[in-house]
Amino acid sequence: MQTVAKEPAKFAARIARVGSFQSMLIDDVAMKMVRKGDDVIMIGSNAPAGETLPHIRNAAKRALDSGYTKYGPTSGLFELRQAVADKLKREYDFEADPESEILLTNGAEEAIFLAMQALVNSGDEVLQSKPSYPFDLHVNYSEGISTEYRLEERNGWKLDAERVESRVSRKTRLVTLVNPHSPTGRVFTREELEEFSEIAVKRNLFVLVDHVYSDLVYDGRRHINIANLPGMRERTVIVCSFSKSYPGMGGWRVGYAVGNRKLIAEMTKLHGLISNMGGCTFAQKGAVEAYLANQTPLSRMVRKFQRQRDASVKRLNEIKGVSVLTPEASCHSFPRVSSYGMSSVDFVYWLLKEAKIVVHPSITYNIEGYVRFNHSHPRYEEALERMEKALRKIPVRRN
Ligand SMILES: Cc1ncc(COP(=O)(O)O)c(C=O)c1O
Repeated sequence: MQTVAKEPAKFAARIARVGSFQSMLIDDVAMKMVRKGDDVIMIGSNAPAGETLPHIRNAAKRALDSGYTKYGPTSGLFELRQAVADKLKREYDFEADPESEILLTNGAEEAIFLAMQALVNSGDEVLQSKPSYPFDLHVNYSEGISTEYRLEERNGWKLDAERVESRVSRKTRLVTLVNPHSPTGRVFTREELEEFSEIAVKRNLFVLVDHVYSDLVYDGRRHINIANLPGMRERTVIVCSFSKSYPGMGGWRVGYAVGNRKLIAEMTKLHGLISNMGGCTFAQKGAVEAYLANQTPLSRMVRKFQRQRDASVKRLNEIKGVSVLTPEASCHSFPRVSSYGMSSVDFVYWLLKEAKIVVHPSITYNIEGYVRFNHSHPRYEEALERMEKALRKIPVRRN
């Protein structure tokens, strides 16, 4: 009997709603060039440069040798949830119950995914800033609708509550806020956050606030936890991670969500489903050490990155056709390159070809005209030199 080849499987519609980011695509192209022996400087990358600190590595090694190799609790090791609660108390005078209000996740991204899945119904609108670290794919996957409120460079990327309110509709369920903001590096002031939270309370919105860059704040600025403001405790979910606070911890995949106990309970169910219990326990032991140990290496790192930020902002502003505001936090600056008249994607591929450096195109953050540059990279000066040399070859088309 003849067998007739069956059609390949059709995939579920929901998976088609998950796309890829341009920044990941260019990184893949650059990695291929690196494998062929090209000396490409990956200066768009999304984490502070450096290796995991030895005391953190040693804590994870000790954990491996002492049996932290089995399934752990679904919510994550209590010891780390307690360390997170202690940090929130110490730094923000914010009380979170480690038993029921903190969930350890595989990086902040999983925390974002779980919160979206728990909060957003089909047809609900989710507001995000423009530009913003992108939440769209999560929103799409939840069958929600992404809407935007603008931050303007000419206003110093200020958070404008009136503008947020003008974008709230009857369908708006959730508003996202990245603070410190990515990709602009703004640290929103208490006044900006108070006005923003008044809107959230008045319009009965839930707020997802991303704190991943809260340990990388410059010039002695104060990072404010919006969940401390009146009426915000119950309607805020904080997502955070070890991947941006400490060098070389992106691959450890340890992050967390902090929110009201009902929301955390729902998110924990889904977390248990997708991870069959919790995250990696020996990585969590390393993260405990990161939070409990002396933070002098972290302060030293922040001071070093601040110097590199100053040097790279100065140099970027000296390059013909490029301008940038000084980021107040994070390891990135967000220079404007629109004067070259190219889309941000064309610009970054052109730069890769001409200068063998990879910056990230601003379309990843839902805006055109900019690129993201990681000033923590040890070769940032060389990258800037290559960028300037390449840009000398082409004319500035408009201002
Ligand atoms: C603003 C922001 N939020 C969340 C994430 C995700 O962090 P993680 O790697 O811990 O999942 C990133 C990663 O680049 C980020 O930049």
